[in-house]
Amino acid sequence: MGEGLLDEVAQAEAEMIAAAATAVERHDDSQAYFDAVIAADQKVEPRDWMPDDYRKGLIRQIAQHAHSEIIGMQPEGNWITRAPSLKRKAILMAKVQDEAGHGLYLYAAAETLGVTREELVDALISGRQKYSSIFNYPTLSWADVGAIGWLVDGAAIVNQVPLCRCSYGPYARAMIRICKEESFHQRQGYEILHTLSHGTEAQHRMAQESVDRWWYPSLAMFGPPDTESTHSAASMAWKIKRHSNDELRQRFVDMCVPQAEVLGLTLPDPDLRWNAERGQHDFTQPDFGELMRVVKGDGPCNAQRMDHRRRAHADGAWVRDAAAAYAAKREKQ
Ligand code: 3HC
Repeated sequence: MGEGLLDEVAQAEAEMIAAAATAVERHDDSQAYFDAVIAADQKVEPRDWMPDDYRKGLIRQIAQHAHSEIIGMQPEGNWITRAPSLKRKAILMAKVQDEAGHGLYLYAAAETLGVTREELVDALISGRQKYSSIFNYPTLSWADVGAIGWLVDGAAIVNQVPLCRCSYGPYARAMIRICKEESFHQRQGYEILHTLSHGTEAQHRMAQESVDRWWYPSLAMFGPPDTESTHSAASMAWKIKRHSNDELRQRFVDMCVPQAEVLGLTLPDPDLRWNAERGQHDFTQPDFGELMRVVKGDGPCNAQRMDHRRRAHADGAWVRDAAAAYAAKREKQ
């Protein structure tokens, strides 16, 4: 072989190595594999390569979801000591504990994306990450426990059942369990309202007044309208979200109308009516200006919810210290 040819081979080899290095750097193969997994409706797992924005988007959504479950314990926790019977109290305690469990499954799912529990908790208590707007409204009567179960947990189910098919494995699997428990939550709320609605006149009034207050904030839980949703397009392309905010809001309204009839309660929307052409109900949208104000911290209970969470976190410092000391001791043994 002549020297010229050897040089050519060496040159070709060097070019091949450089191209492979660039492909690895650009994750060309990995991106193609990731795209194929998404297209085939398979799951992305923690060990798999994923685009940075997919990882960040998931951390954002799962963390906000986890924070919502944890903050969501407060409005109902408010009624544990005043539940009207031992049975109601036991059910409510179980439900509030379930919410804590949901928060923990979700924090664990977010941790698989390379973020620590400490970072997530810090993002909540420092106010850097959001939680659902709905938990910034007060629980003024016992009927609110029923309305939260029926409407808030009902909205959560409509929003979260599609998340069981989310493309990220740990999130999808956490959601399967969460949705089973949410169904029990929704059912217990519905049963509370049914009992009140068919009780005395005063109880019926209390149930109606509560539904009147929770209806629009529950509709707002689904987020801004599609035209203003910043994350929906990317999230749906990655199959994190399967339906848009407006689609789910509509589905929720259509689900609630016949249920309200059975409850004997009225949904507080004079323009709510069946549209035969669309095969769906027409309804009044929630006040999205109010949603954004509440999300930004200006809701009726934002300050109270955050103060409570910060206090509980500080009060729990000794538990975390003790657990860390115990773990360190075990490691030395
Ligand atoms: N409350 C607070 N923030 C909200 C919100 C709401 N109801 N709706 C939207 N937002 C925020 C978004 O987080 C986003 O803010 P960011 O850019 O700072 O993260 C911004 O408004 C724009 O909204 P997008 O539509 O672009 O956001 P998403 O595509 O993420 O859609 C969502 C919002 C539908 C809430 C979606 O994140 C989602 O499905 N999350 C998972 C479910 C969840 O977190 N539910 C919260 C309630 S949990 C619950 O109800 C528990 C139960 O036990 C009762």
